[in-house]
Amino acid sequence: MSTVMNHLDLAAVQASEQEHQAALYAKRDIALVRGEGPYLYDSDGKRYLDAMSNYGVAVLGHADPEFAAALADQLATLATCHQSFFSDTRAAFLDELATIAPEGLAKSFLSNSGAEAVEAALKFARAATGRPRFVALKRGYHGRTLGALAVTADTKYRAPFEPLVPETVHVPFDDAAALDAAIDETVAAVILEPIQGEAGVFPASAESLAAARRLTRERGALLIADEIQTGFRTGAPWAIAGSGVVPDILVTAKALANGFPIGLTMVTEPVAGSLPSGAHGSTFGGNPLACRAGLVTLKALRDRGLYERSATLGTEIVEEIRGLGAAKVRAVRGRGLMIGVELKERVTPTLRALQERGVLVLPAGPVTFRLLPPLVWERQQVDELLAALRETLG
Ligand SMILES: Cc1ncc(COP(=O)(O)O)c(C=O)c1O
Repeated sequence: MSTVMNHLDLAAVQASEQEHQAALYAKRDIALVRGEGPYLYDSDGKRYLDAMSNYGVAVLGHADPEFAAALADQLATLATCHQSFFSDTRAAFLDELATIAPEGLAKSFLSNSGAEAVEAALKFARAATGRPRFVALKRGYHGRTLGALAVTADTKYRAPFEPLVPETVHVPFDDAAALDAAIDETVAAVILEPIQGEAGVFPASAESLAAARRLTRERGALLIADEIQTGFRTGAPWAIAGSGVVPDILVTAKALANGFPIGLTMVTEPVAGSLPSGAHGSTFGGNPLACRAGLVTLKALRDRGLYERSATLGTEIVEEIRGLGAAKVRAVRGRGLMIGVELKERVTPTLRALQERGVLVLPAGPVTFRLLPPLVWERQQVDELLAALRETLG
């Protein structure tokens, strides 16, 4: 049992967080203190079915014994090693990554979060092209550091911090003509999510991804695929692979190390070659703990057949939610274990009702709830979800 348990009482936990934290998050009224596989437990011992994996990170579920043992072993061996030194664990992780890297994305930069991975991608695109501007998509979400925020669309995130750094234009989603009009000789890169996550789970069409690829290539700009949310959970390592499009830069984070902080920016040889030595870096990026976490996660995803399981369970969940015929539901979208359920009303009461019933899901925009469960779900968890949805959605 952890040594921080003097805070086990919910009121004490809430008082401490509210006193000491900037009030930037709309918090739910439970404290999560423990997890086991696909379940989470609050400070009163109530069990929740985890259908969100903490915003898409805990793909192996909670307290996975193999993952915990690997991290304990790494902690007892070497936790930190700056990138100016070689590391055996980092080398092993990079070798494993190379087995799933999209064709041609042979070089990696390691950091500690999604936003950092995006920052690196934007900087690298500028360095490689010598161009200043970016094209991003309306409703797109890429993180909240100053550069990443510039390509994130929602004014709720942007307005308090303007003016933002790079000059960015946001074009409509899935609109090849708008991309055509926006990409000129000043554009360093187009950045897009293959499936928009925060916006409400909107898969981009293969045609619009192909158009983005063709137009960027024709006009000397780069294509950046943001797979921070889509990575590893759509039935394959990368969601964009299904379209046949290969980007020049791919960023991922969240699920890559099953919840241990990590960010990854994968680039082509020419992009990597354009980066002067010492031009970018990170003290923590590529540390052996994060690399060990990533290594054990990637091996588990492959060896436990979790890509295949995500694809199968995802298809079943989408069909079965549609099959409920719930009057409140407008649409069910998604791929693998990244699913959005759009309602005909605001989503907050449904989130609350599901939480009451012991199921944790996430919002995605004002009227959609999002399922990003751990990939270790089995049929039993799907049945529990369906039972809760049947009651909650009426
Ligand atoms: C598509 C996408 N890009 C970037 C980010 C930012 O990642 P982080 O919160 O790790 O900075 C997120 C986080 O939700 C995301 O979904």
